[in-house]
Amino acid sequence: MLIKKILLKKEKSSLVEEKPPFRGLGVLVGPFSQLLTMDKLPLRGALSDEQLEIIPNGGIVQHNGKIVEVGNFELLKQHYPSAEIEFLSDHYVCLPGMIDVHTHICWAGSRFKDYAMRLAGKSYLEIAAAGGGIWDTVTKTREATLNELVTLTVERANTLFKQGITTIEVKSGYGLSVEQELKMLEAIRLANEQTKAELIPTCLAAHILPKDFEGGEKEYLQLIIEELLPIIKEKSLANRVDIFVEKSAFSVSAARSYLLKAREMGFEIVIHGDQFSTGGVTLANEVQALSIDHLEAANDEEIALLAKGNVIPVVLPAASLGLGEPFAPARKLLDVGTSLVIASDWNPGSAPMGDLLASAAILGAAEKLSMVEVWAALTCRAATALNKNDRGILKAGMKADFIIFKTNDYREILYRQGQLKPEKIWKGSPQNFPQEN
Ligand code: NIG
Ligand code: FE
Repeated sequence: MLIKKILLKKEKSSLVEEKPPFRGLGVLVGPFSQLLTMDKLPLRGALSDEQLEIIPNGGIVQHNGKIVEVGNFELLKQHYPSAEIEFLSDHYVCLPGMIDVHTHICWAGSRFKDYAMRLAGKSYLEIAAAGGGIWDTVTKTREATLNELVTLTVERANTLFKQGITTIEVKSGYGLSVEQELKMLEAIRLANEQTKAELIPTCLAAHILPKDFEGGEKEYLQLIIEELLPIIKEKSLANRVDIFVEKSAFSVSAARSYLLKAREMGFEIVIHGDQFSTGGVTLANEVQALSIDHLEAANDEEIALLAKGNVIPVVLPAASLGLGEPFAPARKLLDVGTSLVIASDWNPGSAPMGDLLASAAILGAAEKLSMVEVWAALTCRAATALNKNDRGILKAGMKADFIIFKTNDYREILYRQGQLKPEKIWKGSPQNFPQEN
């Protein structure tokens, strides 16, 4: 990093003048009161705030959507004399753009009635019997046109983007037939072209067994494998496959063969598991899923299993808040040495909040997560849950995805529990930057 290079060169002062200035195009953004790079943090285990790399009076040189260098603003100015300067005249803290690795933002309708019934003490079964639950959203989503779904998805992606989320995973799963799942994935693809955020699609055709399917879970999953996944592959509509493993959804044994088959076809596999009952973790470990998401019901044995393996635990505090259920054991997970990623799970049923930073801040307070543990779960560690090693850290070569908050101390952000919003968001993409000719 520049800071270190320059300090070294100060000792050998004759070398300072010798370094040729960089003549290429680029934009230097800064100064930031604090630049949190999120670099050099271990990807697993507990973290303390002292481990954060904080560059005071920092700057970022970016070009063609990538970071060229991060360091001290004044020194970068000297080294990049041809760079255009985007000067910030107030106090700002800069962080990597956040990564939301688990959302269901492609849906139609609203489930406020479910929410009211839950608050009135009604059970899951009573809500389903009154026409609520996932099936209600499936019905409304099937009725929506492709364009309507695109518009709704873009609106929600833009809402997340304004909160500083530059990468958003989006699941299908409210179509639940070959044709309707393709419509959802097509809507996500089109929405990606109309929002500044980057959308990463996941096929969740195995969300629940559709009520109108004549057959059992095995037959339904077989249909998905034979008739849906090949088209998704051929049209490159997604490279991730998810399944909801739960009593009200799919069994461990049906999920096992489904996931193994999906992996054989070249998909990354992830699991919605341990939301209400255990069993998901063992399966995730066995099939080497990339992540297991939810974990509210995970017990100590399962937590120990996660510590031994490579499956990434993704926790979804907004789903606990939406359902009035306990949080996933985030503190215990970190203390036994697993990774920890926090996502919004934004969906019309269990997690209607749609505010990743607020829900992560609340989880941090409830579970006693250090500030760096929360930020790592939203940036560098989140990137690994999408298998994206080009983002989540601010250093040379990474995507120029970064956000600024108007404060001079990063601790102010989580302290404000989501109410301090980013002032500006940079999403590195080549077309947004001047090309060299
Ligand atoms: O992640 N758990 C399963 N699926 C979603 C809920 C979807 C819905 O209720 O519409 C979740 O919480
Ligand atoms: Fe979910």
